[in-house]
Amino acid sequence: MTHHFSLLILLLVCCPLTCHGFKICAFNVQSFGDSKAADSNVLHTLTRIVSRCDVCLLQEVRDQKKKAIPQLIRSLNNFDTNYQYDYVSSDRLGRTPTYQEQYVFVFRTGSVRLKDQYQYPDTQEGDEDVFAREPFVVRFQAPKTIIREFVLIPVHTTPTNATKEIDELYDVFEDVRKRWKTEHVMFLGDFNAACGYVAKKNRKNIRLYTMSSFTWLIEDKQDTTVRESTDCAYDRIVVHGDLFLRAIEPLSAQPFNFAREYHLTEVEALKVSDHYPVEVDLKTRSGSEQKSMTPYLLPLTFGFMLLFQLSVN
Ligand SMILES: *[C@@H]1O[C@H](CO)[C@@H](O)[C@H](O)[C@H]1NC(C)=O
Repeated sequence: MTHHFSLLILLLVCCPLTCHGFKICAFNVQSFGDSKAADSNVLHTLTRIVSRCDVCLLQEVRDQKKKAIPQLIRSLNNFDTNYQYDYVSSDRLGRTPTYQEQYVFVFRTGSVRLKDQYQYPDTQEGDEDVFAREPFVVRFQAPKTIIREFVLIPVHTTPTNATKEIDELYDVFEDVRKRWKTEHVMFLGDFNAACGYVAKKNRKNIRLYTMSSFTWLIEDKQDTTVRESTDCAYDRIVVHGDLFLRAIEPLSAQPFNFAREYHLTEVEALKVSDHYPVEVDLKTRSGSEQKSMTPYLLPLTFGFMLLFQLSVN
């Protein structure tokens, strides 16, 4: 009987630690296409990085022949058979036909369902064309998370226009909020929101900064760049609303230093990208239920022991 008790206690105590949460990532893969996918070391590292995420936004995808992303997905599906991956991608976006990029969301089919997708239009009538690559907005259902459903608004800004483009995300937010009648919105991607590109004095011109309903989860002091010589929080994650904020694991938002994690030299890491991914964990339903069990652990154990004593006597 004591055996059963220890087992029960072990389960209740350890599960919140081992039962992992739900991870959202954003990774600027710096010109991802055939040549990176053809390098087996790069593809392997990329597979390890993306396989940590339930949803991963890839930016700077330049997959003209439409082979590199399917190759990454195959690699992911062979990597860990516990998870299967699929993806949804924007069209090729950019100001000139010669330089185009795609936003790609890679996701675990077992943890999310793609509910909606929406390409923010190139130019709103009468407005100037602010975005170099208009956000490709997606809505996911994620039954195991507390929030259950959320919208992701990605952006990879042009460095020299970063302040204006980040500010413009508020218009995208308003549009999406009306369109889908939802408040649960997360912005993510390479905002170029640091170092020389977004000066602190210009933040008053960015509504995502000035309006208190938005929370910036990746702090200024973080470094999302691979190069030793640079120290900039270019890549960011921003959430809207208290409900979404409370559905996020506190302090989980971080850059993922894959060079350190996988023991790569700077040169090896730079073959993958010059950015680190940024990541955040959402609270999951099972995780929270198990955590909320903890206060009852002691009384429960005593209760069982008492019952056991009574039944023996
Ligand atoms: C910067 O934004 C303006 C519109 O606000 C646009 O006309 C211009 O092309 C942009 N520059 C780049 C490099 O995207």
